[in-house]
Amino acid sequence: MALELRPLGKHVGVEAIGVDLNRLDDTDFGRMTAALAEHGVVFVRDQQLTPEQHIAFARRWGAIDINNYFPANGGHPEIAEVRKSETQTTNIGGGWHTDHSYDQVPAMGSVLLARETPPQGGDTLFAGMSAAFDALSPGLQDTLRGLRAVHSADHIYSHDGIYAQTDQAADLKGHDIRTRAVHPAVIRHPVTGREILYVNPAFTLHFEGWAREESMPLLAYLYGVGMREEFHCRLQWSPGSLAIWDNRSTWHCAMNDYQGHRRLMHRITISGQPLH
Ligand code: SIN
Repeated sequence: MALELRPLGKHVGVEAIGVDLNRLDDTDFGRMTAALAEHGVVFVRDQQLTPEQHIAFARRWGAIDINNYFPANGGHPEIAEVRKSETQTTNIGGGWHTDHSYDQVPAMGSVLLARETPPQGGDTLFAGMSAAFDALSPGLQDTLRGLRAVHSADHIYSHDGIYAQTDQAADLKGHDIRTRAVHPAVIRHPVTGREILYVNPAFTLHFEGWAREESMPLLAYLYGVGMREEFHCRLQWSPGSLAIWDNRSTWHCAMNDYQGHRRLMHRITISGQPLH
């Protein structure tokens, strides 16, 4: 069966149909690579991947970044588990964010594989941050091109961070790690050349040289733009669904609407290049 690409949203997301990731030849892999750059997220259903095959597929996209905070899957440090049990009420990644923007060289992307999914809910939303940038006025775009923003994960994962107050605390590690990175507020995608709004609600603290209280009104406005549904697509998972996303050009948010049910996702994070 030939690989078919069907858009999931006007500005972000594409589903790859007719593909077996264990037998993906270089031509179809090239089409998926181009689709990722253009659409930001590629979604594939019904894959049968062992952890080793998941790792082998991820390595086709680049080197693997080991996640410092999430529990690893058994003997596979490359695979971070994003999990919620029947009794936990909070989830991981339940706010809009860009993975690893707090790193000096943020991840290029992630390859997320659904292992256990609830009967309903547990979808993941994605936002296309080039389209969000394009929607801003030329004056605001120009202002943002001159700004850099400070990112950190400490307020999320440290001993007194956000997750420490939740029932996810026992699953997480890395509380003593300290992170701080400064990135341009607008970056250019290395393949498409499109500009991207590169701030996110979870990890961006403030603009460089600006106080937090000065930064927040502008950041809140920009977050409101990124949260507009016109820039989104929604992935509905079942066991064996897999998504690869471009972490530079998208935000994502995991819905927490399946209380009393388990959800287990295996995530592999792909290393990136310095941002410009
Ligand atoms: C993540 O934020 O990386 C996980 C997303 C999800 O569990 O849907």
